[in-house]
Amino acid sequence: MKKITIAIDGYSSTGKSTMAKQLARALGYIYVDTGAMYRAVTLYALRKGYISEKGFEKEPLLSDLPGIDLNFRYNPDLGYSEIYLDGENVEKEIRTLEVSNYVSQISVVAEVRQKLVALQKDMGRNKGLVMDGRDIGTVVFPNAELKIFMTASPDIRATRRYKELLDRGALISFEEVLENVQKRDYLDSHREHSPLKQAEDAVVIDNSSMSQQEQFERALSLAELRIQSA
Ligand code: DC
Repeated sequence: MKKITIAIDGYSSTGKSTMAKQLARALGYIYVDTGAMYRAVTLYALRKGYISEKGFEKEPLLSDLPGIDLNFRYNPDLGYSEIYLDGENVEKEIRTLEVSNYVSQISVVAEVRQKLVALQKDMGRNKGLVMDGRDIGTVVFPNAELKIFMTASPDIRATRRYKELLDRGALISFEEVLENVQKRDYLDSHREHSPLKQAEDAVVIDNSSMSQQEQFERALSLAELRIQSA
């Protein structure tokens, strides 16, 4: 059977990665979480002290950039790949609110986007992958056979994210999470390079009142149709 490329874009905390993972598993495709790549570079900058209360020093990050090693390794226990930064599994460290708060500053840097987009295109060389992010259907794979754009109301997304953070033991208020979601929406869709926007040929899934199963079934049937006609 022919393999296709599936691009899933949308606002933060719309459940893109949950759906992308389910879809990849059902189709036997590779799953790539591009948000994790921007988060890992942010973690790198935080650890090096390039981001602090004093602000963000771009120059040292740019000079380190070519040497920053990012890759994904498949974890058979989880059934998907995890991100490694310079050989270290950083899946947990990249999901903190601190990283979430600074990632928009890193993802506006054109040189960072250039490096990550090149890595992403390379991962998609052989098709058979589901990639989620903000610019996958518009910039990384403008010819993807299936593009899905996911959205949901900010309140619903903040509630989901709040629960996730509480489950992980974070001490945080709902208002802080909502503020972070709204701020990231604004920054993601107003940045100069590759802003978040819906590709013209994307199928929109607003999951404000859809169950995970309903979304998955919808996406899977779209994928099966596109595979048949590929
Ligand atoms: O999907 P996420 O919330 O883990 O993404 C983290 C941040 O990375 C988000 O604020 C936007 C940015 N990002 C991006 O600019 N381009 C992508 N392809 C993926 C994520």
